[in-house]
Amino acid sequence: MKADIIIKNISNLITMQGENRPRTKDEMRDIGLIENGIVAINDDKIIYVGEGECPSTIEIDKDTIVIDGRGKTVTPGLVDSHTHLVHGGSRENELAMKLKGMEYLDILKMGGGIHSTVSATKKATFDELYEKAKKSLDVMLDFGITTVEAKSGYGIDDFQTELKQLEVAKKLNEDHPVDIVSTFLGAHAIPEEYKENPDKFVEILIEEMIPEVSKKGLAKYCDVFCEEAVFSIEQSRKILNAGKKHGLLPKIHADEIKPLGGAELAAEVGCVTADHLVAASDEGIKMMAEKKVIANLLPATSFNLQTGKFAKARKMIDSGVPVSLSTDYNPGSCPTENLQLAMSFASLIMKLTPEEVITAVTINGACALGMENEVGSIEEGKKADITIFDAPNLNYIIYHFGINHAERVIKKGILVK
Ligand code: NIG
Ligand code: FE
Repeated sequence: MKADIIIKNISNLITMQGENRPRTKDEMRDIGLIENGIVAINDDKIIYVGEGECPSTIEIDKDTIVIDGRGKTVTPGLVDSHTHLVHGGSRENELAMKLKGMEYLDILKMGGGIHSTVSATKKATFDELYEKAKKSLDVMLDFGITTVEAKSGYGIDDFQTELKQLEVAKKLNEDHPVDIVSTFLGAHAIPEEYKENPDKFVEILIEEMIPEVSKKGLAKYCDVFCEEAVFSIEQSRKILNAGKKHGLLPKIHADEIKPLGGAELAAEVGCVTADHLVAASDEGIKMMAEKKVIANLLPATSFNLQTGKFAKARKMIDSGVPVSLSTDYNPGSCPTENLQLAMSFASLIMKLTPEEVITAVTINGACALGMENEVGSIEEGKKADITIFDAPNLNYIIYHFGINHAERVIKKGILVK
C-alpha cells in the first residue's frame, strides 16, 4: 500500500499499543515505546508502525511526504476530554475577587461565575460563539490536541442558548480539523428564577430538554455539576438516569469542591467518567475502581482555583481507577487551552509519572469519549492522528513546563501544523 506520509528515525515513538480499553495501574506505565521508530500513513489511516525501515509492502514514491523524527518524541494526537469550549465572554474580573480570598462557590452564589458567562453566551450570536471557539480550537490544535470534548451549560434554563452552543460545536466539528464530541450540560447551575424551587428546573431538564437534545442528536453525553448549592446527589441521579433513558451516556462534575458523594454516585449510575474529584472519598474511589469509572482529572483547574487542593491521583491509580487528564478549558475555573501545562501539573503536583500522564491524555482520554477504537494509540488501522514533539524524550515534555513542545500535528492523515 502507498504511504502518503512517513515519519522515520523517530527517537521516541510512543505508540500506546494494546487493547482499546481504559488502562489501569501498571498498564498506565506501559506506553509501547519504540526507539528509532517509523510510522506510515495512507489517506487518513495508519498503515504501518515499527522500528527502522518500512517493509517492501509499503510503497514510498516521490509524492510521499517524509518527516525526519530524529531527536523528536512522537505520540498519538492528544485528547482533551473535558472542556467548556463554546461560550461568550471572559471572567478576568473574578481575579481581583479571588485574590481577596473570595471562593469560587461564593462568586457563583452571588450571581456571578457561571451566571455571568450565561449572560454573555445568551447575548452572543452564533457567529460570535463560532469565531471565539474556533480561535480556541486553533490554539488546542497548535498544542497537539486532535480530539476535544465540548460541553454546553451556559444557557441553563434558556434552552435556545444551550442548543446554540451545541449547534456551534456541531458546525465546528464539520469545519475544523479537530474532532469534537458534544456533551449536554444544561444542569450546570440553578437558574435565578428556580432558586426557590430547583426541583422544577430538574423536571424541565428531564421532561423537556434531555429528550429534545437526544432527538436532535446534538450530544453524546449528559453531564451535571453535582455540588453544594448547585445540583444535589438526588437531583444529579435523576438527571443522569434521564439522560441514560434517552441514550445520552452519563458524565458528572463530581466532588470538585465539597465531598458530596459524587464519586459514589458515578459508580452507582455507571458514569463513563467522573470529573474533578478533588474532594472524593476513599469509599468513592474504591467504588469507581470496581465499576471502572474513569477519573477525569483537571489539575489546571485546581491550580487556578487557588485552594491548594488537588485530586488524589496517586491513590486513584494505585487503587485501580483508570485516570484521564483534561484542561477543563472554561472562562471561570480554568481559562487555558494548554493541555501540556495540565500534564506538567499532573506530574509535578499530583505525582503521576510521565508515562501515566501520556496514557491519561491519549488512550484513556479516548476512552473518556468513547473514541478508543479510532484514536488514542498509534496502531495500524487507527486514524492518523499524531503529534510530533520537538523533545528528545517524554520526560522532557513534562519537565520543561509551560511552553508548547508540539512541532508538527497530523490530523486524519493531513499535516495541519
Ligand atoms: O468544570 N464546575 C463547574 N463547571 C466548570 C466551571 C465553569 C465556569 O466556572 O464557568 C468546571 O470547573
Ligand atoms: Fe468542567
